[in-house]
Amino acid sequence: MPAARTRPGRLLYAQSGGVTAVINATAAGVIEAARAQGAEVYAARNGILGALREELIDTSKESKAAIAALRHTPGGAFGSCRYKLKSLEANRAEYERLIEVFRAHDIRGFLYNGGNDSADTALKISQLGKATGYDIRCIGVPKTVDNDLAVTDCCPGFGSVAKYTAISVREASLDVASMADTSTKVFILEVMGRHAGWIAAAAGLAGEGADAPPQVILFPERPFDEDAFLAKVKATVERVGWCTVVASEGIRNAEGRFLAEAGTRDAFGHSQLGGVAPVLAALVKAKLGYKYHWALPDYLQRAARHAASATDAEQAYAVGRAAVEYALADMNAVMPVIVRTRESPYRWKIEPAPLAKIANREKTMPKGFIRPDGFGITAAARRYLAPLIQGEAPPPYGKDGLPAYVQLKNVAVPRKLPAFEA
Ligand code: F6P
Repeated sequence: MPAARTRPGRLLYAQSGGVTAVINATAAGVIEAARAQGAEVYAARNGILGALREELIDTSKESKAAIAALRHTPGGAFGSCRYKLKSLEANRAEYERLIEVFRAHDIRGFLYNGGNDSADTALKISQLGKATGYDIRCIGVPKTVDNDLAVTDCCPGFGSVAKYTAISVREASLDVASMADTSTKVFILEVMGRHAGWIAAAAGLAGEGADAPPQVILFPERPFDEDAFLAKVKATVERVGWCTVVASEGIRNAEGRFLAEAGTRDAFGHSQLGGVAPVLAALVKAKLGYKYHWALPDYLQRAARHAASATDAEQAYAVGRAAVEYALADMNAVMPVIVRTRESPYRWKIEPAPLAKIANREKTMPKGFIRPDGFGITAAARRYLAPLIQGEAPPPYGKDGLPAYVQLKNVAVPRKLPAFEA
């Protein structure tokens, strides 16, 4: 770890893209590490948009207890956004505005908590800082349930969605097994993950062995083969009596078309996915005649802090702390990544990696993690995944019997600049 030194200027922390069950643990890591070093932290309201619009939050107004409670509170405490900054050439005005806001508030470290698109934005801002002579350190802080960031061994947020998914498959499969004789024979769970099958793969941790659930996993890395899928479901129902299917939202047919494309795109041009489970369910009913249930946990899976992985929560906190240390040690255009130093017993550490190696890249499941028949995970995948869901870190529960989550005050910093349309 580089030696930290206190430097003048403030840090600006922003959350970006889809939030996770533990992104606020990263925020807690950032704020607690900065406080320990005597550095001030502003947060941007709704991610980079808050920075552009000069909607900044003064985190010094939050109590120690409130910041500590972020460690067990899901969602994004300062708001997040999907907003793509164009290239420097296409919209230099936006980048210049960011530098102007940074200058007005003496922001000398920008900590951008997101995925590969956000790593790209942080990299571009660091380049503009250099080009314009504004002294700014840009640190990308990893986060995504999709687990698709390059270089890092895993992404904060993933371990918790993985645990929730494996738990859900284990529990729902007990349900369908009970009903199968006279009622439901096929249960289909759709999971997030975009083009990467990491979350679907994690479902495989629910059971081991040919007949254990989920008996069928559909990965976006493999083209969907309708005949092979139906044959596998039929054979499983005939042998086991029932079948649990886990389908990634990103599965495509042989022509490369998503099975479940909502027809809309976000600011980054990503297709909005979701709805593959009912498509598969209709297929099962039409071709095999089995009664089914399907579930789309959607935001439930990435908000499920009550079932978070302790390992994930710890790693999320650690990358936040490291990001502050890097910024205060004058490092620039880097991301604190998780390095697996030992598989069993699992050990990890954090180290800096260049943003240039992470920006805009996508890490999908390696071939060796998907079984040759395409419907399950290999022993190597199991070895990779298993440590990431280890440990429980339940939130405290209140008198109402529900998790006691914190709501920050989010006190606005007075504006110094004219308004900017973003
Ligand atoms: O990138 C994380 C993710 O959760 C994807 O798995 C999912 O497809 C997407 O976000 C949903 O994004 P949004 O909340 O913007 O619709």
